[in-house]
Amino acid sequence: MIRAGMGKDRHLRDQKKDFAMKDYERLIRWKFKWLATFYDLFDLTFLLDKKRNPRYALASKIPNEPLRILDVCVGTANSSIVIAEANDQNEIVGIDLSPEMIAKAKDKIRRRGIRNMSIHKMDAASMSFPHGEFDIAMISFGLHELGYELMMTVLREICRVLKEGGKLYIVDYERPGGITGLLFSVYLRIFEPKHMPRFLTYDWAKVLPGAGVQINATEKYPFSKMISAIKRPAASSYEVTRD
Ligand SMILES: C[S@@+](CC[C@H](N)C(=O)[O-])C[C@H]1O[C@@H](n2cnc3c(N)ncnc32)[C@H](O)[C@@H]1O
Repeated sequence: MIRAGMGKDRHLRDQKKDFAMKDYERLIRWKFKWLATFYDLFDLTFLLDKKRNPRYALASKIPNEPLRILDVCVGTANSSIVIAEANDQNEIVGIDLSPEMIAKAKDKIRRRGIRNMSIHKMDAASMSFPHGEFDIAMISFGLHELGYELMMTVLREICRVLKEGGKLYIVDYERPGGITGLLFSVYLRIFEPKHMPRFLTYDWAKVLPGAGVQINATEKYPFSKMISAIKRPAASSYEVTRD
């Protein structure tokens, strides 16, 4: 009797989760349906200076070796195209929810003749890859799109598909100081989700171990930062590291 009741509760909870996810997916697809056309203009703003561009900094960290790399929330593939063109031995797999962003990414990959990259429509919160499939995972300007719970689900899912010792690179917004910071806040208020102010205050050294990865380093770039993290073996994933 109790077990049947519990089963029903769980079923209802799962159903609610499914509905929430469908709403979320609808919202993302709607947002990026319209943004896809203009999305690449984003890189003509604060990412113009290649020397201080986190996409190039990220690419410079990845060796040209036979590595399987996952780009989560790949969008129009602006980060992974830089890597794919620099490293012909890497095999890059990008996933995204938005058909329009995916179409743009595929078009760019085809026009540039890139052969070591594939893009798939897949939800980052429930990926269809086996455990430990990738040597490296990355997510650039994608995490801030997700509310805290969904973000943690996605991070845990990324950790699941990473090999032990595999690396995770996160590139996302960072609020600059002074008057520029105020202008940046206006930009965020207009274009980004409501939870953005909270997102900017997360203490990543505390957040990431909850998903099974540990921070190695944080580097600052204009309006953004890059966090390098590593998946530790399960038993030591909550230890503090000093490297
Ligand atoms: C701001 S764009 C970032 C694109 C790209 N990574 C970049 O650096 O420009 C965020 C992308 O995340 C995708 N996205 C959001 N939630 C997702 C989810 N749960 N699963 C897969 N993709 C998702 C959106 O469709 C969108 O293309």
